[in-house]
Amino acid sequence: MKIAIISDLHLDMNSKYVDENLLPVFIAFLQEKQFDILVIAGDISDHVTSSLSMLDAIERQIDVKVLFIPGNHDVWVKPEESSWDSYLQFAQHPSSLIGNPYVLTDDLVIIGDMGWYDYTLAAKHASKEDIDEMLTDWGDNKYTNWACDDLCLTDIMLQKIERQLQMHKDRKVIFATHFIPYSSFVPTGNEYIDWDTCNAFMGSAKLGNLLDDYKNITCVIFGHTHDRHGITEYHQKKIICTPLGYIGERHADVFRRELEKSLIILDV
Ligand SMILES: [Fe+2]
Repeated sequence: MKIAIISDLHLDMNSKYVDENLLPVFIAFLQEKQFDILVIAGDISDHVTSSLSMLDAIERQIDVKVLFIPGNHDVWVKPEESSWDSYLQFAQHPSSLIGNPYVLTDDLVIIGDMGWYDYTLAAKHASKEDIDEMLTDWGDNKYTNWACDDLCLTDIMLQKIERQLQMHKDRKVIFATHFIPYSSFVPTGNEYIDWDTCNAFMGSAKLGNLLDDYKNITCVIFGHTHDRHGITEYHQKKIICTPLGYIGERHADVFRRELEKSLIILDV
């Protein structure tokens, strides 16, 4: 069985960059490939309505099972809206992995949830004041509305994930989330962004510790960072981090080439 994996399509923003609707380009690209399941690990667009509409269009036009978890951009909302409402809309979609593990065989299941971040991936020297100051301008702080803070939201996500893992501890697990679970995969070294501090918002070391408690997890998929790590091994697991990311103000052909570089097809 072949599982195609990608994340961070940002189809709305990338379409704006090139002044062309890139959804049909993405669908045509998928139609050329051979696989049985498509996993999208978050950040299709900046709102639940557009992300679900794009997801439905993808499902209608490719003849394979699609599995999806939202990322932070998918749960961005207007001021009067609730990100929990968006999250629940995603959860109710038939393609969603939220609370809805996809059993591939008696021995193998795909489990997934959005996750969140709890500042545990910030550099040791980043102070609470540094993080709080960075948070003021951080998009998720401006455009999500959870009625709880990031640490509380991460704990809720971890509890939900652990319940799923407990239910399937006798199977091998492919686990999909949006955020980074291990500090080894955080971005570094960009002169324009203070990643030592920004990595506070990239994922959760607590999630990595939880995943390491379950030796039956054979593969972990995540995105959020726009650094592509492809397929690698870490803590006795296959790690797949293969975001498309922002293509910037370039031509649609660049989007097509970046798709070619970022889509990973895993044989299981
Ligand atoms: Fe993201």
